[in-house]
Amino acid sequence: MAEQQQNRPAMPDHEQIEQLNHRFCNADPVEVLSYFVEQYKDRIALSSSLSIEDQVLTHMVVQLSKHTRIFTLDTGRLFPETYQLIDTTSLKYGVPIEVFFPDYERVQQMVREEGINLFYTSIESRHRCCQIRKLEPLQRAFKGLDAWICGLRREQSVTRKDMQVVEWDGMHNMIKINPLINWTEQQVWDYIKQNHVPYNKLHDRGYPSIGCEPCTRAIKPGEDVRAGRWWWESPEHRECGLHQRH
Ligand code: ADX
Ligand code: SF4
Repeated sequence: MAEQQQNRPAMPDHEQIEQLNHRFCNADPVEVLSYFVEQYKDRIALSSSLSIEDQVLTHMVVQLSKHTRIFTLDTGRLFPETYQLIDTTSLKYGVPIEVFFPDYERVQQMVREEGINLFYTSIESRHRCCQIRKLEPLQRAFKGLDAWICGLRREQSVTRKDMQVVEWDGMHNMIKINPLINWTEQQVWDYIKQNHVPYNKLHDRGYPSIGCEPCTRAIKPGEDVRAGRWWWESPEHRECGLHQRH
Protein backbone atom coordinates (compact mmCIF):
# COMPACT_ATOMS: atom_id res chain seq x y z
CA MET A 1 0.00 0.00 0.00
CA ALA A 2 2.76 2.42 1.02
CA GLU A 3 4.66 1.42 -2.12
CA GLN A 4 1.53 2.00 -4.20
CA GLN A 5 1.24 5.51 -2.73
CA GLN A 6 4.90 6.17 -3.54
CA ASN A 7 4.36 5.24 -7.20
CA ARG A 8 1.46 7.63 -7.54
CA PRO A 9 2.32 10.84 -9.35
CA ALA A 10 1.82 13.91 -7.18
CA MET A 11 -1.38 15.77 -8.03
CA PRO A 12 -0.59 19.03 -9.82
CA ASP A 13 -1.43 22.28 -8.08
CA HIS A 14 -3.15 25.27 -9.70
CA GLU A 15 0.10 26.64 -11.12
CA GLN A 16 1.17 23.28 -12.58
CA ILE A 17 -2.23 22.89 -14.24
CA GLU A 18 -1.73 26.29 -15.85
CA GLN A 19 1.70 25.17 -17.09
CA LEU A 20 0.22 21.95 -18.49
CA ASN A 21 -2.46 23.96 -20.29
CA HIS A 22 0.16 26.28 -21.67
CA ARG A 23 2.06 23.26 -22.98
CA PHE A 24 -0.96 21.35 -24.36
CA CYS A 25 -3.48 24.06 -25.32
CA ASN A 26 -2.91 23.56 -29.04
CA ALA A 27 -1.42 20.06 -28.93
CA ASP A 28 -2.55 17.11 -30.98
CA PRO A 29 -4.96 14.95 -28.89
CA VAL A 30 -2.68 11.91 -29.28
CA GLU A 31 0.20 13.88 -27.77
CA VAL A 32 -2.02 14.88 -24.84
CA LEU A 33 -3.24 11.32 -24.31
CA SER A 34 0.21 9.88 -24.64
CA TYR A 35 1.60 12.20 -21.94
CA PHE A 36 -1.19 11.58 -19.42
CA VAL A 37 -1.50 7.83 -20.03
CA GLU A 38 2.23 7.51 -19.41
CA GLN A 39 2.07 9.79 -16.38
CA TYR A 40 -0.94 8.22 -14.65
CA LYS A 41 -0.71 4.63 -15.96
CA ASP A 42 -3.40 2.52 -14.24
CA ARG A 43 -4.72 5.58 -12.39
CA ILE A 44 -6.30 7.17 -15.46
CA ALA A 45 -9.40 6.04 -17.37
CA LEU A 46 -11.49 7.13 -20.33
CA SER A 47 -15.09 7.91 -19.43
CA SER A 48 -17.07 7.01 -22.53
CA SER A 49 -20.70 7.66 -23.36
CA LEU A 50 -20.00 6.10 -26.78
CA SER A 51 -20.42 9.55 -28.36
CA ILE A 52 -18.48 10.35 -31.54
CA GLU A 53 -15.87 12.16 -29.41
CA ASP A 54 -15.50 9.21 -27.04
CA GLN A 55 -15.22 6.81 -29.97
CA VAL A 56 -12.35 8.91 -31.37
CA LEU A 57 -10.67 8.87 -27.96
CA THR A 58 -11.19 5.10 -27.64
CA HIS A 59 -9.53 4.60 -31.02
CA MET A 60 -6.59 6.78 -29.95
CA VAL A 61 -6.24 5.30 -26.46
CA VAL A 62 -6.16 1.66 -27.60
CA GLN A 63 -3.35 2.46 -30.05
CA LEU A 64 -1.37 3.85 -27.11
CA SER A 65 -2.19 1.19 -24.55
CA LYS A 66 -4.64 -1.69 -24.39
CA HIS A 67 -4.46 -1.53 -20.60
CA THR A 68 -5.94 1.91 -20.10
CA ARG A 69 -9.35 1.49 -18.51
CA ILE A 70 -12.43 2.54 -20.46
CA PHE A 71 -15.71 2.71 -18.60
CA THR A 72 -19.28 3.69 -19.35
CA LEU A 73 -22.23 4.52 -17.11
CA ASP A 74 -25.30 2.53 -18.06
CA THR A 75 -28.20 4.52 -16.65
CA GLY A 76 -30.64 1.77 -17.61
CA ARG A 77 -32.36 4.23 -19.99
CA LEU A 78 -29.96 4.19 -22.94
CA PHE A 79 -30.94 3.62 -26.57
CA PRO A 80 -30.69 0.05 -27.99
CA GLU A 81 -28.23 1.48 -30.56
CA THR A 82 -25.92 2.60 -27.73
CA TYR A 83 -25.93 -0.86 -26.15
CA GLN A 84 -25.09 -2.34 -29.54
CA LEU A 85 -22.17 0.07 -29.89
CA ILE A 86 -20.72 -0.95 -26.52
CA ASP A 87 -20.39 -4.50 -27.86
CA THR A 88 -19.22 -3.53 -31.34
CA THR A 89 -16.50 -1.25 -29.94
CA SER A 90 -15.26 -3.72 -27.38
CA LEU A 91 -15.05 -6.47 -30.01
CA LYS A 92 -13.41 -4.31 -32.66
CA TYR A 93 -10.65 -3.05 -30.38
CA GLY A 94 -10.26 -6.18 -28.26
CA VAL A 95 -10.60 -4.26 -25.00
CA PRO A 96 -13.23 -4.43 -22.27
CA ILE A 97 -15.58 -1.50 -21.69
CA GLU A 98 -16.41 -1.60 -18.00
CA VAL A 99 -20.09 -0.95 -17.43
CA PHE A 100 -21.23 0.70 -14.20
CA PHE A 101 -24.87 0.44 -13.15
CA PRO A 102 -26.93 2.53 -10.73
CA ASP A 103 -27.74 1.23 -7.26
CA TYR A 104 -31.04 -0.61 -7.79
CA GLU A 105 -32.41 0.26 -4.35
CA ARG A 106 -31.97 3.98 -5.01
CA VAL A 107 -33.57 3.67 -8.43
CA GLN A 108 -36.44 1.70 -6.95
CA GLN A 109 -37.09 4.27 -4.23
CA MET A 110 -36.91 7.18 -6.67
CA VAL A 111 -39.33 5.54 -9.09
CA ARG A 112 -41.78 4.62 -6.32
CA GLU A 113 -41.74 8.20 -5.04
CA GLU A 114 -41.76 10.16 -8.30
CA GLY A 115 -42.62 7.80 -11.15
CA ILE A 116 -40.51 6.22 -13.88
CA ASN A 117 -40.36 9.39 -16.02
CA LEU A 118 -39.87 11.90 -13.21
CA PHE A 119 -37.37 13.95 -15.22
CA TYR A 120 -40.14 15.71 -17.16
CA THR A 121 -41.80 17.07 -14.03
CA SER A 122 -39.13 19.49 -12.72
CA ILE A 123 -35.41 20.34 -12.93
CA GLU A 124 -34.99 19.02 -9.37
CA SER A 125 -36.48 15.66 -10.32
CA ARG A 126 -34.37 15.51 -13.44
CA HIS A 127 -31.25 16.20 -11.38
CA ARG A 128 -32.28 13.52 -8.90
CA CYS A 129 -32.51 10.99 -11.74
CA CYS A 130 -29.10 12.03 -13.16
CA GLN A 131 -27.62 11.89 -9.66
CA ILE A 132 -28.85 8.34 -9.03
CA ARG A 133 -28.38 6.94 -12.52
CA LYS A 134 -25.09 8.68 -13.45
CA LEU A 135 -23.28 10.55 -10.69
CA GLU A 136 -23.36 7.91 -7.97
CA PRO A 137 -22.12 5.16 -10.36
CA LEU A 138 -19.42 7.59 -11.54
CA GLN A 139 -18.11 7.77 -7.96
CA ARG A 140 -17.69 3.99 -8.02
CA ALA A 141 -16.04 4.09 -11.45
CA PHE A 142 -13.50 6.58 -10.03
CA LYS A 143 -12.21 4.15 -7.40
CA GLY A 144 -8.42 3.91 -7.75
CA LEU A 145 -8.22 6.78 -10.26
CA ASP A 146 -6.45 10.14 -10.13
CA ALA A 147 -7.42 11.34 -13.60
CA TRP A 148 -10.23 10.92 -16.08
CA ILE A 149 -10.39 11.53 -19.82
CA CYS A 150 -13.53 13.05 -21.33
CA GLY A 151 -14.79 13.88 -24.80
CA LEU A 152 -15.81 17.47 -24.07
CA ARG A 153 -15.51 20.10 -26.81
CA ARG A 154 -15.82 23.85 -26.28
CA GLU A 155 -18.06 24.21 -29.30
CA GLN A 156 -20.68 21.89 -27.79
CA SER A 157 -22.40 24.31 -25.49
CA VAL A 158 -22.47 27.67 -23.73
CA THR A 159 -21.66 25.75 -20.55
CA ARG A 160 -18.39 24.45 -22.04
CA LYS A 161 -16.97 27.41 -23.91
CA ASP A 162 -14.21 28.27 -21.42
CA MET A 163 -13.10 24.73 -20.57
CA GLN A 164 -9.42 23.80 -20.84
CA VAL A 165 -7.48 20.71 -21.99
CA VAL A 166 -6.45 20.09 -18.39
CA GLU A 167 -8.83 20.92 -15.58
CA TRP A 168 -8.84 20.43 -11.85
CA ASP A 169 -12.10 18.63 -11.14
CA GLY A 170 -12.83 20.00 -7.69
CA MET A 171 -16.08 18.03 -7.40
CA HIS A 172 -14.16 14.74 -7.51
CA ASN A 173 -10.64 15.86 -6.51
CA MET A 174 -9.20 14.57 -9.73
CA ILE A 175 -7.49 15.76 -12.87
CA LYS A 176 -9.74 15.91 -15.89
CA ILE A 177 -8.27 15.70 -19.38
CA ASN A 178 -10.21 16.97 -22.40
CA PRO A 179 -7.98 16.15 -25.40
CA LEU A 180 -10.62 17.17 -27.99
CA ILE A 181 -11.55 20.45 -26.35
CA ASN A 182 -10.51 22.51 -29.43
CA TRP A 183 -11.91 20.18 -32.08
CA THR A 184 -14.86 21.05 -34.26
CA GLU A 185 -17.60 18.57 -35.01
CA GLN A 186 -16.27 18.35 -38.57
CA GLN A 187 -12.82 17.31 -37.31
CA VAL A 188 -14.40 14.57 -35.21
CA TRP A 189 -16.37 13.23 -38.18
CA ASP A 190 -13.33 13.41 -40.50
CA TYR A 191 -11.35 11.33 -38.00
CA ILE A 192 -14.19 8.81 -37.63
CA LYS A 193 -14.49 8.35 -41.40
CA GLN A 194 -10.74 8.25 -42.10
CA ASN A 195 -10.09 5.71 -39.37
CA HIS A 196 -13.26 3.60 -39.75
CA VAL A 197 -14.20 4.22 -36.14
CA PRO A 198 -17.56 2.61 -35.23
CA TYR A 199 -20.27 5.12 -34.29
CA ASN A 200 -23.83 5.19 -33.05
CA LYS A 201 -26.26 4.67 -35.93
CA LEU A 202 -28.60 7.28 -34.44
CA HIS A 203 -26.21 9.97 -35.71
CA ASP A 204 -27.39 9.16 -39.23
CA ARG A 205 -30.97 9.74 -38.09
CA GLY A 206 -30.69 13.32 -36.79
CA TYR A 207 -29.25 12.76 -33.31
CA PRO A 208 -25.93 14.67 -33.04
CA SER A 209 -25.74 14.34 -29.24
CA ILE A 210 -26.99 11.19 -27.55
CA GLY A 211 -27.73 10.55 -23.89
CA CYS A 212 -30.58 8.66 -22.28
CA GLU A 213 -33.47 7.72 -24.58
CA PRO A 214 -36.27 9.64 -22.80
CA CYS A 215 -34.09 12.77 -22.51
CA THR A 216 -32.80 12.91 -26.09
CA ARG A 217 -34.64 13.72 -29.29
CA ALA A 218 -33.58 14.22 -32.92
CA ILE A 219 -32.91 17.82 -33.94
CA LYS A 220 -34.25 19.78 -36.90
CA PRO A 221 -31.91 21.28 -39.53
CA GLY A 222 -30.31 24.47 -38.20
CA GLU A 223 -30.88 23.61 -34.54
CA ASP A 224 -28.01 23.60 -32.05
CA VAL A 225 -26.28 20.18 -31.73
CA ARG A 226 -27.37 19.83 -28.12
CA ALA A 227 -30.91 21.11 -28.73
CA GLY A 228 -32.19 17.55 -28.48
CA ARG A 229 -30.77 16.96 -24.99
CA TRP A 230 -33.27 17.74 -22.18
CA TRP A 231 -35.00 19.81 -24.87
CA TRP A 232 -37.75 20.99 -22.52
CA GLU A 233 -35.18 22.83 -20.35
CA SER A 234 -33.36 26.12 -21.12
CA PRO A 235 -29.80 25.79 -22.58
CA GLU A 236 -27.95 26.81 -19.40
CA HIS A 237 -29.56 23.90 -17.52
CA ARG A 238 -28.67 21.25 -20.07
CA GLU A 239 -25.99 19.43 -18.09
CA CYS A 240 -26.34 16.33 -15.98
CA GLY A 241 -23.85 17.35 -13.29
CA LEU A 242 -21.03 15.14 -14.59
CA HIS A 243 -19.13 18.25 -15.67
CA GLN A 244 -20.01 20.65 -12.90
CA ARG A 245 -16.90 22.66 -12.11
CA HIS A 246 -17.28 23.56 -8.42
S1 ADX B 1 -23.69 15.15 -20.61
O1 ADX B 1 -23.22 15.69 -19.34
O2 ADX B 1 -24.41 16.10 -21.44
O3 ADX B 1 -24.37 13.85 -20.49
P1 ADX B 1 -22.13 14.56 -22.89
O4 ADX B 1 -23.12 13.55 -23.37
O5 ADX B 1 -22.01 15.83 -23.65
O6 ADX B 1 -22.35 14.87 -21.34
O7 ADX B 1 -20.73 13.88 -22.76
C1 ADX B 1 -19.58 14.60 -22.41
C2 ADX B 1 -18.56 13.65 -21.84
O8 ADX B 1 -19.02 13.17 -20.56
C3 ADX B 1 -18.38 12.39 -22.67
O9 ADX B 1 -17.45 12.62 -23.71
C4 ADX B 1 -17.89 11.43 -21.63
O10 ADX B 1 -16.51 11.63 -21.38
C5 ADX B 1 -18.67 11.82 -20.40
N1 ADX B 1 -19.93 11.04 -20.30
C6 ADX B 1 -21.19 11.47 -20.54
N2 ADX B 1 -22.08 10.48 -20.37
C7 ADX B 1 -21.38 9.39 -19.98
C8 ADX B 1 -21.72 8.04 -19.67
N3 ADX B 1 -22.98 7.61 -19.70
N4 ADX B 1 -20.73 7.20 -19.33
C9 ADX B 1 -19.43 7.62 -19.27
N5 ADX B 1 -19.05 8.87 -19.58
C10 ADX B 1 -20.00 9.75 -19.92
FE1 SF4 C 1 -32.37 10.17 -15.90
FE2 SF4 C 1 -32.66 11.56 -18.16
FE3 SF4 C 1 -30.56 12.00 -16.51
FE4 SF4 C 1 -30.76 9.75 -17.97
S1 SF4 C 1 -30.49 11.87 -18.75
S2 SF4 C 1 -30.15 9.89 -15.89
S3 SF4 C 1 -32.98 9.34 -17.87
S4 SF4 C 1 -32.73 12.39 -16.13
